[in-house]
Amino acid sequence: MLNIVLQDSTFKQLRDFIYEKSGIFIPDTKKYLIENRLAGRIHAANLKSFEDYLHLIRHTKDREELKRLFDAVTINETFFFREPKQLDVFADHIVSKVLEQKTGTKNIKIWCAACSTGEEPYTISMMLMEKRLDFKQVEIYASDISEEALGSAKKAVYNSYSVRNAPESYLTKYFSNSGQVYTLSPSVRHTVKFKNINLIDEKKVRLLKGMDVIFCRNVLIYFDEKAKQKVVSHLYDSLNPGGFLFIGTSESLHNVTRAFRPAIINKVIVYQKV
Ligand SMILES: C[S@@+](CC[C@H](N)C(=O)[O-])C[C@H]1O[C@@H](n2cnc3c(N)ncnc32)[C@H](O)[C@@H]1O
Repeated sequence: MLNIVLQDSTFKQLRDFIYEKSGIFIPDTKKYLIENRLAGRIHAANLKSFEDYLHLIRHTKDREELKRLFDAVTINETFFFREPKQLDVFADHIVSKVLEQKTGTKNIKIWCAACSTGEEPYTISMMLMEKRLDFKQVEIYASDISEEALGSAKKAVYNSYSVRNAPESYLTKYFSNSGQVYTLSPSVRHTVKFKNINLIDEKKVRLLKGMDVIFCRNVLIYFDEKAKQKVVSHLYDSLNPGGFLFIGTSESLHNVTRAFRPAIINKVIVYQKV
């Protein structure tokens, strides 16, 4: 591996580039993250310095390089049944509210925006299966900016760390297991449609409209206030009137928007589009 130094001025230009393209804001304290993660890209592209890399991503017409940059700078930590209280509120309260609001035979549409390697949308799908929802009337979409994360999501093969929070009954029913490897059953895998969507990109977000419930959990923390406002307004536009938004339990819409009506159900905050 090359032993090259990331100058402060180059770091700031790289950081601004990443922010402009993705909304992800990398503070000074996380300079090491850029240094460590992009060194591999510099090596792979046969470049000599971070300055060369900056020049490359600024001028290349190769969309793949930008995708690799997103793969390198995103943090994809996730697991099955993360923040389970929210998931219970969704399954036990929100789904029935959405069904009540539906007229005719319209499908219920759910979107996990920033799904990482798929644990979140698959958890939702399994929970709805347990509720015996008719999957002919359920559409589950899941998206992320990281192509690498989406690739893993589509494979749906996990390690024991990913499933550590999953109830035993789910593991038995919906996975086949060999040693530390847990392979999700195709019957669940096929219920989720994956897409590459950069949440800061309004045109991309518009690909998914008419949603009844959006999960956008544990991603707003990587954005600054301005980027949060942009992303949340895109999500607002993608929701049906009366639709619901879940954000991570450590996240807040304070100073971001007042367009949603917050409701507290079993100590969980749910945001409703009014
Ligand atoms: C920490 S994971 C959260 C995964 C899941 N929502 C959860 O709560 O377990 C954050 C995800 O956000 C994605 N992400 C970051 N910036 C994004 C953007 N601008 N558009 C879409 N996804 C983004 C990352 O690639 C990463 O997979």
